[in-house]
Amino acid sequence: MSTSGSTQHRVSIALDARSYDIVIGTDVFALPSTYEALPDATCAALVSNHTVAPLYAQQLAKALGERYRKVIQVVLPDGEAHKSWQTLNLIFDALLAAGCDRKTTLFALGGGVVGDMTGFAAACYMRGVPYVQVPTTLLAQVDSSVGGKTAINHPMGKNMIGVFNQPLLVVADIATLTTLPQRELIAGLAEVIKYGPIADGAFFVWLEANLDALLARDPAALAHAIKRSCEIKAWVVSQDERETGLRAILNFGHTFGHAIEAGLGFGTWLHGEAVGCGMAIAAQLSANVGLIPAAYALRIQRLIERAGLPVRAPALGVQRYQQLMSVDKKAEGGETRFVLIEAPGKAVLRGVPDADVATVLRACGA
Ligand code: NAD
Ligand code: GLY
Repeated sequence: MSTSGSTQHRVSIALDARSYDIVIGTDVFALPSTYEALPDATCAALVSNHTVAPLYAQQLAKALGERYRKVIQVVLPDGEAHKSWQTLNLIFDALLAAGCDRKTTLFALGGGVVGDMTGFAAACYMRGVPYVQVPTTLLAQVDSSVGGKTAINHPMGKNMIGVFNQPLLVVADIATLTTLPQRELIAGLAEVIKYGPIADGAFFVWLEANLDALLARDPAALAHAIKRSCEIKAWVVSQDERETGLRAILNFGHTFGHAIEAGLGFGTWLHGEAVGCGMAIAAQLSANVGLIPAAYALRIQRLIERAGLPVRAPALGVQRYQQLMSVDKKAEGGETRFVLIEAPGKAVLRGVPDADVATVLRACGA
């Protein structure tokens, strides 16, 4: 993948005192100037994992070394299965062992797993230290690094233990995607595709036309997809930081997706694969309850399938799905609620009769 010729974009997320910028560009994460507006501190802690650290930690540490007297590195085990208390503790162990004070800035270098855990650790360490997201997967660049949701998994449910904690800055460097395995790129496309049906009908049409370029990692196509995704996410989060309403639309496909992830065991399907399949089911459900024409649901499903994402649900059994979905964070008063599409670019959160959920699950292979 050639990454030459791309320009730098800045998307702002407006949250009063917690406002911050998302920098999107090529070869930006290793530039000391990228971090020059951050508050003064003595110590920086670079948190990454065993896969990403050998690729990019040295470059980031060098850039940070120009403004922090001490830069420590914390290298976590890789994988969704390690998004746990035990792994979180490794961050605290390293910070305490190195004598990091309460002004220490944490830098999350990696995908959504590293980002979610680093953000959570930053919220807890000495009752809160600042952190910066340096996302290196497509999924993290378009979604998880933006918006301040941080968490670890519980064996009974995905992302069940966590806090809202906004970063000071997000640095999405498209050049880091050159080393990303194709399966991970495709998983990230699920979260990109999501933004079309829920918020921007024109972006959905653009994705239909440019999917092949994205799969081929065309830098201009990737830059546009990342920028537009971040703009939509920033717009939603600015209005509803703590998900009292609107923000739930970002969970299109996630109720089914989280059940797939937990049901199969975390890490069996990638998060993006589970979300892709969940969106296919949720699109069908939207049509089944009469919100959108069947033809539009089919278009959504076709785009997901063309991206190389699964659209058939793993056969866990309908009852097992319903049990897993009952612990979803959007459930209220015992009722599981779903993000459904009510028009191209418009989503709604609502309850659906169990019988309709069972019907769509059965039809999708559950
Ligand atoms: P991930 O963090 O597991 O990264 C995927 C894989 O790619 C890992 O093996 C990682 O080591 C590797 N990798 C990362 N960058 C690489 C690079 N540049 N080159 C080579 N390999 C690289 O998975 P993900 O898809 O980035 O994130 C999924 C996680 O994000 C899930 O835990 C999900 O719950 C969470 N998430 C959070 C939010 C949020 O709002 N906080 C939103 C969506 C997803
Ligand atoms: N990924 C869903 C959210 O940030 O709200």
